[in-house]
Amino acid sequence: MSDMRERLSHLTILPVLVVNTEEEAIGISQALFDAGITAVEITLRTPVALDAIRAVKQALPGLSVAAGTITCVADMEAVAHADVDFAVSPGLTRSLAECAAALELPFLPGVSTASEVLGGLELGFDCFKLFPASACGGPALLKALSAPLAGVSFCPTGGINAGNASDYLALPNVLCVGGSWMLQADIVAAGDWVSIRNSTRDSLAHLSRFQSA
Ligand code: 3PG
Repeated sequence: MSDMRERLSHLTILPVLVVNTEEEAIGISQALFDAGITAVEITLRTPVALDAIRAVKQALPGLSVAAGTITCVADMEAVAHADVDFAVSPGLTRSLAECAAALELPFLPGVSTASEVLGGLELGFDCFKLFPASACGGPALLKALSAPLAGVSFCPTGGINAGNASDYLALPNVLCVGGSWMLQADIVAAGDWVSIRNSTRDSLAHLSRFQSA
């Protein structure tokens, strides 16, 4: 089993975080961890992201911390130095794949078409982030890909919410789903970590019943 498949097969939800401060990152991550979440993706979309990744790793050593929104080799190098557990990208290029391999950093690349999956298979990947999942075809696309691309698994992300996550998780080629739906802006702004913890705990209990992979 590939390292990434092994990691993702233990997950149901991979929360995607866009954080504004280290304190916010720790508050959200602690709430998610207390709800039963074992891995989070902190995106490189804010200036504080790298410091937040380091802070969360230090505060919560039991939580796996991925860096997301890796779009260039410099990002990959930066997150490797921040000691992330794995890297996630919305896409896949040969230089990103080679950089991750050279750094021995587990990497979940993004795809949205069969051709992109074939390119990823050539580079040695067998697990992909399907992104943006709902816009590029959703569960119907994943079902259609499963026959010609047997043995390939996905973490769909983008447009997934409490209402449609089970449709994805029920598919045998879906290991887990990613998304930010449990982190509504007003609740995060209010620092209501209890509400995030409770709703995520409920979501996990509900969704794990649908998981087939
Ligand atoms: C990502 O970077 O993976 C997505 O932006 C998360 O998508 P969502 O916010 O629609 O869940």
